[in-house]
This record gives sequence, structure tokens and C-alpha cells, in this order.
Amino acid sequence: MKQQTDRMLDLARQALAHAHAPYSRFRVGACVRAASGRLYHGCNVENSSYPVTQCAEATAIGAMVSGGDREIVEILVATEGAELCPPCGRCRQQLAEFARPDVPVHLAGPEGVRRTVTVGELLPLAFGRETLGTHRPPPESSHP
Ligand code: THU
Repeated sequence: MKQQTDRMLDLARQALAHAHAPYSRFRVGACVRAASGRLYHGCNVENSSYPVTQCAEATAIGAMVSGGDREIVEILVATEGAELCPPCGRCRQQLAEFARPDVPVHLAGPEGVRRTVTVGELLPLAFGRETLGTHRPPPESSHP
């Protein structure tokens, strides 16, 4: 387990090194481990139109879905400075789409993992697919 987390830290740092963060100068790398065992990593991608910026977690999730995985069992977010990067509100919702509430989220700084929390702690009382429940249209009326 520790070895897997170390590998995730390596990959998150590799992604961080490629971050496009000329505006905030806050480089972030993220890595998610899928139930299949595959690891997917990503960095933040800023934009001169600031709100268009994509967080590192979103990049990693996009890679995971593109790779054919749908279930996250471990998450790591790495920064290079003194401040950790607790996933922002949007990322919490995105992570909760693919991770159960007990999935660990490791927050790492230059020295390694400094704090570990769970998806459920980050996003209590989450809005999820169960919330949509009976309000979902039947499959036959979904898009072709
Ligand atoms: N950022 C992330 O990559 N993940 C988060 O969860 C929060 C913030 C990035 C976005 C932006 O490029 C920089 O950090 C400063 O907000």
C-alpha cells in the first residue's frame, strides 16, 4: 500500500513539473488509482481567461475516464511549497462522482504525504447519482 502511494506521489510530481500555471505560479499534480489498479495523473492547466483554468484533479480524472476506468480507490494531490492543496469545491464534486466516501485523499508537500482525509470528509452530504434517483428520465428517452 505504502509502495503504491509512493508511486502515486512520483507520478503526481511528474505531472506537477508539467503544470501550466503562469498566472498563479501554484503548480499542482494529482494522481488517482483506479479499481483496476491503473494510475492516472494530471496537472493544473491555467488559462489567460482565468475561470477557464482546469485543476490537476480534473485532468487526472479526465485521463482516467479516457483510459476506460470509472472507479477511484485512492487519490493524491501534491504541491511543491509549504501550502497543501486540499481539493477545491468543484474537484470534490468531481472526485465524489467516481469515489466512495471512504476513499483516502492524500495531501502531499515537498516532504511527502502530510495529511490524509477521505472523500466523505471533504464532501459531506454530497449530491450524488442517488439524489437524482427517480428524477432520471427512463433510458429510452435518453439521448441516442
Ligand atoms: N488548483 C488545482 O489544481 N486543484 C485544486 O483543487 C485547487 C486549485 C489549481 C488551479 C489553479 O491553477 C491554481 O491551483 C491556483 O488556484
